[in-house]
Amino acid sequence: MSTKIVIDCDPGHDDAIAILLALASPELELIGVTTVAGNQTLDKTTRNALVTLEVAGRSDIPVAAGAAAPLRRELRTAAHVHGETGLDGPELPETSALPVEAHAADFLAELIEPGVVLVPTAPLTNLALMLERHPDVPDRLERIVWMGGSIAEGNVTPAAEFNAFVDPEAAAAVFASGIPITMIGLDVTHKAFFTRAHAERLRGAGRAGRFVAELSDFFQQFHERSYGFDGSPIHDAMAVAHVIDPSLVTTRHVNVAVEVRSELCDGRTVVDLRGVSGRAPNAEVGVDVDADRFLELLVSRLASLA
Ligand code: RIB
Ligand code: CA
Repeated sequence: MSTKIVIDCDPGHDDAIAILLALASPELELIGVTTVAGNQTLDKTTRNALVTLEVAGRSDIPVAAGAAAPLRRELRTAAHVHGETGLDGPELPETSALPVEAHAADFLAELIEPGVVLVPTAPLTNLALMLERHPDVPDRLERIVWMGGSIAEGNVTPAAEFNAFVDPEAAAAVFASGIPITMIGLDVTHKAFFTRAHAERLRGAGRAGRFVAELSDFFQQFHERSYGFDGSPIHDAMAVAHVIDPSLVTTRHVNVAVEVRSELCDGRTVVDLRGVSGRAPNAEVGVDVDADRFLELLVSRLASLA
């Protein structure tokens, strides 16, 4: 019995790889993709989601575009990481596929039924709008598994991770919603590096494998330049992998609150590991990962795509 999932994303190299991992995994059924502005502008993240599905021969999967900007803040993109297209590296195929008419916030509400797991790998603007427009959704949404946040260091500021930083108000609303949520943050994604050796295993493994290898070639440049890493953390794929095999990431049930009124720490996910705040636990937060098993799952599944 496979788990139905919806990915809300801002492709973005690691978002695209997360989509392909979901399509390559029999444990999951990807029933829809929604897009939001984040790594790049909404028009580009939406086109990139359609292109990624085209690469996998799965243009049958519906895509709905959502918010072009955060709830209350100016959009901040990441062209320095993902390039001007948002998927720099490979030659991007043309696709005649178009997004559905519905706004992502409404399409998510349409798709969510008991048993569906929502996997946002981007700023949480679409989910916050979904909660505003459809207050009944929490009653039927089993779990959110979000790639975002961090217990320790951020990656946009010393305090904040990108998906939380872009729209802190949206993140705060989702953590306050009462929906069961798992946070796959930088503390675990920065423990697993997709290396050139992994890319070489995929380069000759069909269209999707070559696409991922060429995405990795570009993505790697940022991580070498900025962190001195000998590989790239494929952040968003770890959120999908967690739905496939929850034993890969060790989590703790703790309180997470999001800073929205700070000059230095806006967007910080304040993770109360020791329960000192008195705030009730509201999330499962990733504290460790079996990096080798995650990477082997990722590469072997991607290699299985045609
Ligand atoms: O901080 C990493 C996250 O921000 C990833 O989801 C990446 O795609 C960007 O959206
Ligand atoms: Ca992302």
